[in-house]
Amino acid sequence: MTSIETPADMDGLSRILFGHAAFQYLNAACELELFELVRAKPGIHKAEIGAALGLADRANDILLLGCTSLGLLVKNGGYRVAPVLDELMGTDDWQRFRDTVAFEQYIVYEGQLDFTESLRTNANAGLHRVPGEGPDLYRRLSQNPHLESVFYRYMRSWSELANRHLVEALDLSGSRKLLDCGGGDAVNAIALAQANPDLQVTILEIPDTVRIAEKKIAEAGLSERVTVAGGDMFADSFPTGADTVMFAHQMVIWTPEECTALLRKAYDALPENGRVVIFNSMSHDDGDGPVVAALDSVYFASLPAEGGMIYPWSQHEANLRAAGFTRSERVACPGWTPHGILIGYK
Ligand SMILES: C[S@@+](CC[C@H](N)C(=O)[O-])C[C@H]1O[C@@H](n2cnc3c(N)ncnc32)[C@H](O)[C@@H]1O
Repeated sequence: MTSIETPADMDGLSRILFGHAAFQYLNAACELELFELVRAKPGIHKAEIGAALGLADRANDILLLGCTSLGLLVKNGGYRVAPVLDELMGTDDWQRFRDTVAFEQYIVYEGQLDFTESLRTNANAGLHRVPGEGPDLYRRLSQNPHLESVFYRYMRSWSELANRHLVEALDLSGSRKLLDCGGGDAVNAIALAQANPDLQVTILEIPDTVRIAEKKIAEAGLSERVTVAGGDMFADSFPTGADTVMFAHQMVIWTPEECTALLRKAYDALPENGRVVIFNSMSHDDGDGPVVAALDSVYFASLPAEGGMIYPWSQHEANLRAAGFTRSERVACPGWTPHGILIGYK
């Protein structure tokens, strides 16, 4: 997606004013499986939709008014799904999109209420809305089983929307051991290990997430080559022996100073010619988009940890230089998510 280069008109302004309501139509349609129903029966009529979804007439009217006026459904006699949904629903990315909708609804939405306060204080003022103890969202997830499952389902899906490009861009043929810092449920470690049969991977994760990653690794039959170490990547030493250190969806969470500290630890742990890999969403260097990077930054400002945003490529490059990596390479990923890859060389 490109940035919006023309100023908003009144229609654009009102869509922003009611943007939260537009999202609620999308979420309700996903939860009620409206799009699946309409796609299976193109031309379906209102009464049949209401009966199939178990909605009263007024409720059905509201849902169809919203989804049609927002362009999610096309009404021409009966209803059809919009071409963009029809195409997406024909791929595995549809479930990934739905997992992202659930994450926005159950984790992001409430914390964003504290966005202004987060800007004023330059800190994640929304974290207090996630019940439990812990200095960041990740350490509270295990205290909230529903949020934990929504989060890790989303995180797997968000990674899978772009990690095919990571697998393509990252030549690991000469690599023996990769360290995946904050590797989540092992989604990227598994993809890289599957594509590179000689590669060993160690994931460094907080202790509460180790069981989640180990389960996925066992399901993939990779327990011999992909292992998980419980620890704190800031406080603890990195596991030794890796020639490649990866930070996937990590450098968007922390302040530039914290990111640089992590990159410095990676630099110190790597041998000469070793590489560091940054894989996450990126914003433009001139600060004008893409719009998904801007919208996603509200979450990173408000919720997970004290500092973070979808930083411009140039911020990561400055962090890499400050950490000692003198040469780096940019790889932009195609697709609607603003993913990019930066590879730094020691
Ligand atoms: C945004 S998720 C990314 C997960 C995975 N890398 C991916 O791309 O799907 C961030 C992960 O970092 C982990 N994490 C957060 N703080 C950490 C710390 N201090 N040490 C190790 N892992 C940490 C979290 O538990 C979480 O799984």
